[in-house]
Amino acid sequence: MMNLDLPKLFDLDKMSREPKFKNSFYQQDILSVDQFNRESLSYIFTRAQEMSEMVNKVGSCDLLHGYTLACVFYEPSTRTSASFIAAMERLGGNVIPITQGIKYSSVSKGESLVDTMITLEQYSDAIVLRHPEIGSVAKAAKYSRVPIINAGDGAGEHPTQALLDLFTIRKELGSIDGLRIAMVGDLRNGRTVHSLTKLLMSYDVSLRFVSPDTLRLPLNLMNDLIDKGVDVRETDKVEDVIGDVDVLYVTRIQKERFTDLADYEAVKDYFEITPEVMANAKEKMVVMHPLPRVGEIHYKVDKDPRAAYFRQVQNGMFVRMALLAAVLGQA
Ligand code: NCD
Repeated sequence: MMNLDLPKLFDLDKMSREPKFKNSFYQQDILSVDQFNRESLSYIFTRAQEMSEMVNKVGSCDLLHGYTLACVFYEPSTRTSASFIAAMERLGGNVIPITQGIKYSSVSKGESLVDTMITLEQYSDAIVLRHPEIGSVAKAAKYSRVPIINAGDGAGEHPTQALLDLFTIRKELGSIDGLRIAMVGDLRNGRTVHSLTKLLMSYDVSLRFVSPDTLRLPLNLMNDLIDKGVDVRETDKVEDVIGDVDVLYVTRIQKERFTDLADYEAVKDYFEITPEVMANAKEKMVVMHPLPRVGEIHYKVDKDPRAAYFRQVQNGMFVRMALLAAVLGQA
């Protein structure tokens, strides 16, 4: 190594990057909603509320100045990727976005997931990862030195979506205990449904599952609900539940998870939430959807004050700001 007698650039004795808050998420991978309990959820939601107030007042701050997040998406995304990027930038941090199609990264040259992660951790303080295989994000986390946040692993989990879903329910309806919540659509393949269902097991709620027979909630989840004594019912008709639910959580039929396209065609137009359907819903209730929608909710419903899906989108940014700041020890 060359040793020129140069004046020092940095006064390192005066510089540090200590965690401000050692909460239970500090430096933790966020892989599943199983890592959360009511107490830690309240922590994140309180912080998310603070984030929303900060954004509404001044737009951004420098809480995560000096931190870099890599966002790596092996599957399409609009909201999850954009909201993580927006979250990081509104907190004054930087982003390495590998979201414009993995085809432009070395993954298209055959690089393994593990090598890609080990590469990105050399540049970043945390990694957000979406991948089509169940369990792949957990596997990547085993090899990564920096925390990895699961942004969806195939039909497995989507923990940060469930956090923002729950935050939205609480914000819209005041509390979660005592609510009757219906999930509609592709309950078999919808990872947002899986994560939200698991989270809701910590609350005193009644659950209704509405889907065609082939797309019912996975049996292991249903058994867990029954073991916990949750009031659950299944049906294949929205009409059976619309009149007495507080939350109608609508999801897309997950075309990309079908091996036989004929099976998808058979169920793709299975239901649509229209103003006529909404006419039978309670006055105080909300319609939610993780989005994208592909025909499950008619555009005319958007004007209904009970349509909460775009407010839900914005909440996603606030919740991800809270989570990123917590993982990096700054909230
Ligand atoms: C969901 C997903 O990717 O699982 N989208 C999202 O993250 N908001 C839902 C979906 O794709 O249907």
